Amino acid sequence: MEAYKILTYPDPFLKIIAKPVTLFDEELQEISERMIQTMYEGIGVGLAATQVGVNKRLFVMDVSYNKDLPESERNPIVVINPKIIEKADKQAGEEGCLSVPEFRADVERYRQVKLQYRDLKGDLKEMDAEDLAAVCIQHEIDHLKGKLFIDYLPPLQRNMIKKKLKKRVE
Ligand code: NI
Repeated sequence: MEAYKILTYPDPFLKIIAKPVTLFDEELQEISERMIQTMYEGIGVGLAATQVGVNKRLFVMDVSYNKDLPESERNPIVVINPKIIEKADKQAGEEGCLSVPEFRADVERYRQVKLQYRDLKGDLKEMDAEDLAAVCIQHEIDHLKGKLFIDYLPPLQRNMIKKKLKKRVE
């Protein structure tokens, strides 16, 4: 299976609001598998469908990912139509993003969230997450709303990063 190409800022697709998934079919399974592969190749802990040009409300994550771990011990999850139903305890922490290469910055997020989502079979699930997993969930849901972590930064810092990223693609 070939990995997806990861879109980077300022690709306009990163701004779309992803469509909810209504069909839990084989195609969705294939997209998810390909996204998981792309996430591992990109050495990221999460990847949203919008980052690979797929207009679906879906992301994959594996916060325990370690590149030295054998493939058989990986434990990725596929999160479809996610919704945060409880949140608590804000704190700032450093984030990066495969779509914003080479930049990291502090972003304030909830430290604990309760997530409701559907799995690949379409079954409704709930997950309690904290720390890195909670941050990852909020970061990926933002992607599905067309939002990047740099959008939270003060204008001066944000514009500086955006300018540098635009230069990369020129
Ligand atoms: Ni990201």
